[in-house]
Amino acid sequence: MREDFSLPDTVAPHGGNVYEVARALGIKAADLVDFSANINPLGYPPGAEVAAAEAWEVMTHYPDRQCQDLKEALAAYHGLSPDEILAGNGSTELIYLVVRALRPRRALIVTPAFSEYEAACRMYQAPVVFHPTAEEDSFTLRRPPDLGGADLVFLANPASPSGALLTPGELLPLVEALAASGSYMVLDEAFIDFVEDASLKASLGNFPRLIILRSFTKFFGIPGLRLGYLMAKPGLTATLAEAQEPWSVNVVAQAVGLACLADQEFMDRSREEVARERDFLLAEMSRLPGLKVFAGKVNYLLAKLTGSGWLASRLRQALLKHRILIRDASNFRSLDERFIRVAVRRREENEQLLRALWACRPGR
Ligand SMILES: Cc1ncc(COP(=O)(O)O)c(C=O)c1O
Repeated sequence: MREDFSLPDTVAPHGGNVYEVARALGIKAADLVDFSANINPLGYPPGAEVAAAEAWEVMTHYPDRQCQDLKEALAAYHGLSPDEILAGNGSTELIYLVVRALRPRRALIVTPAFSEYEAACRMYQAPVVFHPTAEEDSFTLRRPPDLGGADLVFLANPASPSGALLTPGELLPLVEALAASGSYMVLDEAFIDFVEDASLKASLGNFPRLIILRSFTKFFGIPGLRLGYLMAKPGLTATLAEAQEPWSVNVVAQAVGLACLADQEFMDRSREEVARERDFLLAEMSRLPGLKVFAGKVNYLLAKLTGSGWLASRLRQALLKHRILIRDASNFRSLDERFIRVAVRRREENEQLLRALWACRPGR
């Protein structure tokens, strides 16, 4: 183990890199409590493991390229038709696919945001413009962005990393304004399963250029398996499907996806427990001097260190001594070196985080 328990600069501040951090510290990943990646603290539905084991039996065959059973189950779950769904190897694959297939003249990204939108645009040489949301609005998009020539817009709802959530009533005028301009829109709903009623899926039929992105990663707790999908009108899913590599969703992922959708009890319990723990963590973190916590609506909280001299990188480092890993959020566009993000975990771990935060006391 490193004597001073400090991280070398080569370890990137992004979330979910628990293996890399543990390696750099000379400890096991299991010895760290990971608040840096926003995964359902309840893990995955119990049936997922059974489905994965059963799927192993058909490993000698290629997977169903169309993911037909999964698309039918998703269609039934969301009240859509199977040809309005396209599955992918995590929603990240689909972000790259959309840019590759649509070849936007220019893309607009509402920030702060998931970095892969920008990375995908750069990979396919699409110029990018940014529309920052304001800290005073808790990073909530209040009005349609000025497109500045963009014909593809990326917006996450709930927003990440802020956790800001627009209701369908608040979002619709924005989507209508974008539709009127003829622009494509990727509405990233990677975290909406925690507040499913806020999804815009019921309005999909009204917007031929709307693409709703969804993920099994966060809510169903399977980041390692890679499963995501998009929802769009049939003509658009067909165009996107033509540009997708074959067999990107393996047999285990398809089977586990079906098992996840069958477990309503897991979904209800996850929504309840995460909402309760988020409110607990929000209330308790807000008591810490020197910390401004934004009232996120899903399974993570963005916070700003307001005490003089405190930086996200220093707090992240200090918390590692308590075996806690948080997300230093300073590298998100529109944020700065004072922002951190923490995932909502189970009560015992949340209490562990709170004790460590008091011990490191940003405001001290
Ligand atoms: C807002 C948002 N969208 C999409 C993703 C990608 O998720 P996945 O590729 O695991 O489905 C992430 C992952 O962190 C995210 O934060």
